[in-house]
Amino acid sequence: MFDRLTRQPDDPLLALIGIFKADPRPDKVDLGVGVYRDEAGHSPIFRAVKAAERIIWESQDSKSYVAPEGDQRFLDLLWSLVGGPAPSVHAAGVQTPGGSGALRLAADLIRQAGTGKIWLGLPSWPNHAGIFAAAGLEVETYPYFDVPSQTLQLDSMLDALRRAQPGDAVLIHACCHNPSGAPLSADDWTRITAMITARGLVPLIDSAYQGFGAGLDGDAAGLRMLIAAVPEALVAVSCSKSFGLYRERTGALYAVAASQAAADTARSNLVAIARTSYSMPPDHGSAIVKTILGSPDLRRDWSEELESMRLRLATLRRAFAEALGGRWSNTVAIGVQEGMFSLLPLTPSEVLTLREKSGVYMPTSGRINVAGLKLSDVTRVAGLFKSL
Ligand SMILES: Cc1ncc(COP(=O)(O)O)c(C=O)c1O
Repeated sequence: MFDRLTRQPDDPLLALIGIFKADPRPDKVDLGVGVYRDEAGHSPIFRAVKAAERIIWESQDSKSYVAPEGDQRFLDLLWSLVGGPAPSVHAAGVQTPGGSGALRLAADLIRQAGTGKIWLGLPSWPNHAGIFAAAGLEVETYPYFDVPSQTLQLDSMLDALRRAQPGDAVLIHACCHNPSGAPLSADDWTRITAMITARGLVPLIDSAYQGFGAGLDGDAAGLRMLIAAVPEALVAVSCSKSFGLYRERTGALYAVAASQAAADTARSNLVAIARTSYSMPPDHGSAIVKTILGSPDLRRDWSEELESMRLRLATLRRAFAEALGGRWSNTVAIGVQEGMFSLLPLTPSEVLTLREKSGVYMPTSGRINVAGLKLSDVTRVAGLFKSL
């Protein structure tokens, strides 16, 4: 059987990790993989996560199964973080293996409900298209961000969505757009919400960076407006970045519906799909999130640490944009984009030159993880981009 298989290429972003590791240059810079890093280049464990793990270690008395939908208290607490303290919508969720697991489950549900198509912004996180195609969905694209001018293409996006058919799904990033970092204003969200409602589309909102852009509530404001306006939506949540739980594979998918009965029906389908795939989600990460969000002290400490990460990113962005000066026509936009990523107007050969000559690593798309910069090194690194 295996003879009939052909070798698959490594994921380019994951392959970059290995190439970076093997580079002996002491001043190498990793702007590739999408994890938060501190000034020392370390991807830290949140203080509150360590404290929660201690509590779990001391109090957990069984490793028996939890439930196919995961831990209900985790789901409730996470939903109040995402949807707001008193969301006025009907929702039902399932715990998933990370945000990717939530997106795959959403795609399977969309397919199961008879919708064949999902609209995806260009550019987007590369794995989006792969996940949707693997679930058998047809992927249509809408313009989202113009790299040379570093501008959002909202009018073109809305023009494209005008062609979508009622019932089509549309993927929207909740905040901190990956890869562009381009923020949506409240007015942009209002226009997107109006188009989705007018066309009868079903939004799949991907929330993977809450807290890194405009703060915990600011990053969820657009999402909250959208789900309050539409009869049906899916919200995929990743705890990988906001809680630093990347390897614990922690996330959730919520179905928002016109009635609680409809939301519960959607959830029963999600549980059934999960049962024939991974059966049940991993528990450890959700136990950590539940412990943090359920404790006023740990929650405060976690949100303060997250806020310090957000501020570090904003400071790095400003410093980097300033140091780049007039390198590109709209370099100033990089300073005000949000979250970890920006998509620089670089050719693949410029990316390779930076890698080979200067030890600055990023994927050939030109996406950089701003958190990979160090404030003490921003001017030098910006100089390498300017000398291309
Ligand atoms: C936009 C976006 N959505 C979802 C995810 C999934 O994250 P995970 O599966 O690690 O929770 C990522 C991860 O990089 C992402 O960038």
